[in-house]
Amino acid sequence: MQIPFEVFREPAVMRARVEDLRRDGRRIAVVPTMGALHEGHLALVRHARAQADVVILTIFVNPTQFGPTEDLSRYPRDEAGDLAKARPAGIDLAFCPPAAAMYPPGAQTFVEVRELQQPLCGASRPGHFAGVATIVAKLFHITLPHLAVFGEKDYQQLAIIRRMVRDLDFAIEIASVPIIRESDGLALSSRNAYLSAEQRHAALALSKGLAAAEALVKAGERSAATIVAAARAPIEAESLARIDYLELRDATELTPITDRLERPGVLAMAVFMGTTRLIDNRVLRP
Ligand code: PAJ
Repeated sequence: MQIPFEVFREPAVMRARVEDLRRDGRRIAVVPTMGALHEGHLALVRHARAQADVVILTIFVNPTQFGPTEDLSRYPRDEAGDLAKARPAGIDLAFCPPAAAMYPPGAQTFVEVRELQQPLCGASRPGHFAGVATIVAKLFHITLPHLAVFGEKDYQQLAIIRRMVRDLDFAIEIASVPIIRESDGLALSSRNAYLSAEQRHAALALSKGLAAAEALVKAGERSAATIVAAARAPIEAESLARIDYLELRDATELTPITDRLERPGVLAMAVFMGTTRLIDNRVLRP
């Protein structure tokens, strides 16, 4: 039976609604987002729709995961537009709290996934993943899902959330959806909207680098240095691009692979195009 669409803003009211739905035996899925929805987010919604009776979309631009010099204030916000896209993709309920409802004065408790939060984006964005893990833990407690769906675009985030769920005994299944890309290969991101036409074109170097590395591995290359060099080359050839990091790491533990790729690795990168920081990754299997 279809439930009436509703937008919740108060954590306690959201949770009371889900508690009722759970009592009725419904299987609940949650799709956490910061809004500015695109086809990548909608792929998560469709995945959730196929796996659950009730799909909850959360939209919350989480201040604790933005650094002091990052784009919190200019992060795109369009709740009405987001809901107009998400409803036909299959959401039943939305949770769009104001910041004060999520972080009342005096909030000081954080979840940290100590090792996995250190490298890659964690090294460039201190405190970012503590903000992510904390808000995701809170969203889980408020929406009480059986299933939560995340994108492989944010590979380290997904690894951290899986580890948090395991380590803290959340009774929640974590599902992931592959990276959704434009037809020319650029990974969809809310931040693509910041790119000029020239930067948008130069940004193709990220997916080109990943494709070059993957082709080498498929041809039998196992030297980590050679694989990483192949991924760097097209990006370094772009004058508009500046590499923040580009690394080959163990696909599960995110520890460095510096010698040979003999187990699944993730090639992960962050690249600045002007002030816009883009991320992309690919899992490479020897
Ligand atoms: P946001 O950047 O809005 O992304 C929400 C979800 O969409 C994440 O799971 C992300 O991996 C996924 N996603 C984004 N672009 C994608 C693409 N091109 N293909 C597939 N999935 C994609 O990630 C966050 O928000 C926040 O950190 C959040 C988890 C909501 C916590 O605040």
